[in-house]
Amino acid sequence: MRVFVAGGAGALGRRLVPQLVERGHEVIATTTSASRLGLLERMGAEAVVMDGLDAGSVAEAVGRARPEVIVHQMTAISGKPDLKNFDRWFATTNRLRTEGTDHLLAAARTNGVSQFVAQGYAAWNGIREDGWVKTEEDPLDPRSTGQAAAAIRHLEAAVAGFGGTVLRYGAFYGPGASDDQAEMVRKRQYPIVGDGAGHCSWVHLDDAAGATVLAVERKATGVFNIVDDEPAPAREWLPYLARCVGAKPPMRVPVWLARLLAGPTAVTMMTEGRGFSNAKARRELGWQPHYASWRQGFREGLA
Ligand SMILES: NC(=O)c1ccc[n+]([C@@H]2O[C@H](COP(=O)([O-])OP(=O)(O)OC[C@H]3O[C@@H](n4cnc5c(N)ncnc54)[C@H](OP(=O)(O)O)[C@@H]3O)[C@@H](O)[C@H]2O)c1
Repeated sequence: MRVFVAGGAGALGRRLVPQLVERGHEVIATTTSASRLGLLERMGAEAVVMDGLDAGSVAEAVGRARPEVIVHQMTAISGKPDLKNFDRWFATTNRLRTEGTDHLLAAARTNGVSQFVAQGYAAWNGIREDGWVKTEEDPLDPRSTGQAAAAIRHLEAAVAGFGGTVLRYGAFYGPGASDDQAEMVRKRQYPIVGDGAGHCSWVHLDDAAGATVLAVERKATGVFNIVDDEPAPAREWLPYLARCVGAKPPMRVPVWLARLLAGPTAVTMMTEGRGFSNAKARRELGWQPHYASWRQGFREGLA
């Protein structure tokens, strides 16, 4: 297939592009910087510069590429996590998930591209009612009112309106995706909040890329949780992550202090977050993650 990967040089794109090429697909991959064209070409892709926030740039890139499928992997989350100023930290990512999605979908419609796969998110943001593990039937947390949640809702609705696919990836780990978090854990700047009962779902970058290849090839539509088999509370995964990166055990802070220091989003994640089930992706995509649990993945797949 002729696959257009918007955001091919990112942490996930760098794992996805080689897997697509390896499977015999023709890949057109984008970057915002001419300095990364060579990287994309060495992975076997046709490389193009594109600004996902510029409708004209997107229209031109997609129009020239004439793909059969568009895969949207554009985000701008790198740098030190700033949970307290979540909307500021996510400002560009939110634009890529709203305007960027709309530009790509418009280009898809203009150029007769029938398949569209986009990056969603399913780490801790399930509806905060009942059980700790959510399926695709459960809504994302409607109590999340920030701009990041609104951007995800926009992306999901827009892609559903197109008849496309949303891959709700868990929290990424692996080279380029978890280095900032690992550094915070080493500096003991990543404490357990309250009872640490809030759940998180993780996924290794290579497994996320593998699921994406399957979604493309199977022309699967709808929503899929792309997470490992073991959603887990912060009080379990965080001390384990600390051990795996050679850090001392994480500190513990009470909820009131965490709210002051890190803001409400961090408190919600750590105390009430809901993880996700991958049963649908296993069943309908035939996906089998190599790192079925973060326990193995944090030991073997962080660097
Ligand atoms: N808990 C979590 O899961 C978590 C939290 C924070 C960060 N992270 C991870 O940290 C890693 C780094 O995050 P990231 O999103 O900053 O970096 P990234 O993975 O390097 O960026 C993703 C892609 O988006 C592209 N992009 C950015 N702005 C664009 C624009 N205006 N137009 C078109 N494409 C654009 C980038 O292109 P170019 O780079 O080529 O310009 C890149 O290919 C990611 O894996 C992220 O998931 C994970």
